[in-house]
Amino acid sequence: MGRRPGRAARGAGRRPGRLRVLPGTRAGLPEDDWRGLLRAGGQRLAWLGDVPVGLARGAVHRDEHHLVGMWVSPTARGHGVAAALVQSVVEWARGLGAPRLLLWVVGDNAAAQELYRRAGFAPTGRTQPLSTRPWQTEAEWALELG
Ligand SMILES: CC(C)(COP(=O)(O)OP(=O)(O)OC[C@H]1O[C@@H](n2cnc3c(N)ncnc32)[C@H](O)[C@@H]1OP(=O)(O)O)[C@@H](O)C(=O)NCCC(=O)NCCS
Repeated sequence: MGRRPGRAARGAGRRPGRLRVLPGTRAGLPEDDWRGLLRAGGQRLAWLGDVPVGLARGAVHRDEHHLVGMWVSPTARGHGVAAALVQSVVEWARGLGAPRLLLWVVGDNAAAQELYRRAGFAPTGRTQPLSTRPWQTEAEWALELG
């Protein structure tokens, strides 16, 4: 596309075989944990034609199944990409026999909350300060799969 590659792409090229932790990610997670997350097989990439436009990941943490890292390119929003990604991660969790799928969403993210509500998730009542912006609160939501 002629655009300068993003930081992640540039960083990945420098150290083949190593996973780099970039600012704003879960810094401090050991490399084995990152590789374990990838082995769980929950990562999803959505394509429109040959263009990647969205991503989300199913992750297993302390025996619980989580939907994390939901993001859709601004140019592709409003076309059901996120809804399709949610369903794909839900199927991933069902395939592993998970009793429920959890996620965390920031209090003022109305678009994401509506997305998750439409997919059947509901708040569990648990909240916590956002790790990157502690003055904001995120809430746990769950979809019962049983
Ligand atoms: C939230 C986000 C993932 C939605 O992606 P999307 O592909 O545009 O969503 P979809 O088109 O699949 O929408 C599915 C449903 O979500 C809800 N929704 C999506 N965007 C919305 C918005 N801006 N306002 C209100 N509801 C919205 C609607 O209920 C929609 O269903 P409908 O179109 O039938 O009304 C996208 O805006 C995004 O990447 N935001 C930045 C990152 C982010 O907030 N991630 C979530 C972190 S928890």
